[in-house]
Amino acid sequence: MSHVLEDVLQESADSLKASGAESPRLDVRMLASAVLECSPKDVLMQSTATMRDQDYDRFQELVSRRCKGEPVSRIIGVREFWSLPFSLSADTLDPRPDSETIIEAALKIHSDSAVKSLSVLDAGTGTGCLLLALLSEWTSASGVGVDISVGAIKTAHANAVDLGMAQRAHFVVGDWLGSVGGQFDVIVSNPPYIREEEIPALSPDVRLYDPQLALLGGADGLAAYRKLIPECRQLLCPGGVLVLELGRGQEADVSHIIEAEGLGRIESHRDLNGIVRCLSATVAQKKVGKSKQAGYDNFTNENLD
Ligand SMILES: C[S@@+](CC[C@H](N)C(=O)[O-])C[C@H]1O[C@@H](n2cnc3c(N)ncnc32)[C@H](O)[C@@H]1O
Repeated sequence: MSHVLEDVLQESADSLKASGAESPRLDVRMLASAVLECSPKDVLMQSTATMRDQDYDRFQELVSRRCKGEPVSRIIGVREFWSLPFSLSADTLDPRPDSETIIEAALKIHSDSAVKSLSVLDAGTGTGCLLLALLSEWTSASGVGVDISVGAIKTAHANAVDLGMAQRAHFVVGDWLGSVGGQFDVIVSNPPYIREEEIPALSPDVRLYDPQLALLGGADGLAAYRKLIPECRQLLCPGGVLVLELGRGQEADVSHIIEAEGLGRIESHRDLNGIVRCLSATVAQKKVGKSKQAGYDNFTNENLD
C-alpha cells in the first residue's frame, strides 16, 4: 500500500487532534521531519511524495507516542532554544522559551559586543542551553556549566561539541557552586523552583518527562535560591552580574535573598506573557571583563564523550 505523505500527515494530525494535542499539524511535521531526516519545511515541500514502508511504520510509532501525551521534543530528542538545537536526555529539563528572558537580560546588560573574554558561569546547566546561547552571542567569552546530574553534564558537553563551542564551554558535576573557584563576570541560573505541593498538579508532559531534580525547589520553592545566591556572591567579580530565573510570584522573596547578600541594581525582566521571569543584580563597582583568574582553568571535558 502506498503512503502519500500529505494523506499520512492529515490522518495523523486528525488523530493527534482527537487526542487533545494543541498543535497537531506542527507536531506531525516535526515528527515526519525526524523520520525523513529533513527540515519541517522540506516535509511540506515533499507532500506529494510517497513514504517508504519502514518510514511509515516508524512515523506511526512516533505519532502514537505523541497521542499518549509525550512531548514532541522528548520524542525527537531535540529542542530549539535561542535558535540553536539542543539534544535532550532523560536527565535534562526540556528548555523552555521563557528562559530566553535570561539571555535577553544578560545581553542587555553586556550589550557592548567589544567586551572581551567575559567569563560566564551557569549553575544547574541541564542541556547547557543558557551557557551555550550566551557563548554563541559573546564569541570571545568562555564559561563553565555546573550540574549535580552526571547525565545532564554529559548531554551539555555533547551539545557544546555539536555546536562547535567545546573549546569555550566546560562542564562539571557539582552540588551548586561549592567546588567552583575563581571569579566570573556573569552568573546565570534557572534553578528548580516548584513548590513540593505543586508537583502532583503539574501537567503530565512536565511531571512525567522532566526530571524531578530539575523541578523541585523544596517546601516553599526557594531552597535552591537560599543555597545558590550566597555562593554566586562569592564567585562574582566586582561589577559582575547575576541573572536568575524565577517562578511566578517569587520576585519579592528572591529579591530579599539577593539584597541580603549585598548585591545592588536589582532589576526585573518580563517574559513574552508579561510575567516577571527573571531578576538581575550587580556586584558594586569597578570594571568588568578583566581582573579575574578564570574559575574554570582546572576544568576539562575529559571523560564526557
Ligand atoms: C530548572 S533546571 C534548568 C536547566 C537549564 N539551565 C535550563 O534552563 O533549561 C535546573 C537544573 O538544576 C540542576 N540541579 C538541581 N539541584 C542541583 C544542585 N544541588 N546542584 C547543581 N545543580 C542542580 C538540575 O539537575 C537541573 O539540570
